[in-house]
Amino acid sequence: MSDQDEKQRERAFVPALSRFGALYDPVVALTCREGIFRPRIIEQLNLRPGLRVLDLGCGTGTLAVAIAKAEPGVSVVAVDADESALRRARRKAEEAGVFIEWVRAFADETGLPCESFDRVVSTLFFHHLSPEDKWKTLEQARCLLKMGGELHILDWGRPTTVLHRLGFLGIQLVDGFENTQDHVAGNLTSLVRTAGFSDVESLGSLDTMWGTLDFIKAVRAE
Ligand SMILES: C[S@@+](CC[C@H](N)C(=O)[O-])C[C@H]1O[C@@H](n2cnc3c(N)ncnc32)[C@H](O)[C@@H]1O
Repeated sequence: MSDQDEKQRERAFVPALSRFGALYDPVVALTCREGIFRPRIIEQLNLRPGLRVLDLGCGTGTLAVAIAKAEPGVSVVAVDADESALRRARRKAEEAGVFIEWVRAFADETGLPCESFDRVVSTLFFHHLSPEDKWKTLEQARCLLKMGGELHILDWGRPTTVLHRLGFLGIQLVDGFENTQDHVAGNLTSLVRTAGFSDVESLGSLDTMWGTLDFIKAVRAE
């Protein structure tokens, strides 16, 4: 085992699968309006042949596979820290007949070359990160993007009603209170701006039974 592998094993992270196993995909499909948010974020990516796209915190690979199917001319790389998630993701890609490069790594130290992607996308992932790891992951995303490349995030934002705030308690109980504090406060967009991205935009939101999902777009301009 290499030093890098050893380091990955030692570091803790908030997984999606060890708690839910095979239930993760159906739970997301049934409770997070997946049929709406995935096509919408893919549309937001404005894919064209030749683009290199990175999915950070790819989990079971649903988005990465959908991207590869939506535009077969793009190269897709997908990163997650959880080997069990990546096993499911590989199987999904095989069944769909698409090629994706799967990388087991932490999102803030992927080992991938800087300035090598046109798009970095991430769905339902940032709320798994501590405030410090959010910051480091945004720095890594900025480094990985080419100049003019775009960051697209879909994650929990400030709940819009009391009912959504109560629903979000369910996410906090499962994924942690420290990791999700910036989301309840609606701070993710300003964190992205502070991390040095330009043209940071909120492209709307989507209410679910767990709370409000925000669509964020930003550009690496320097
Ligand atoms: C809720 S899942 C989202 C998966 C997928 N993006 C989706 O839309 O279904 C969050 C994922 O983040 C991964 N994760 C958590 N912390 C991580 C980190 N620091 N680096 C890389 N992956 C991480 C977990 O293993 C899990 O697969």
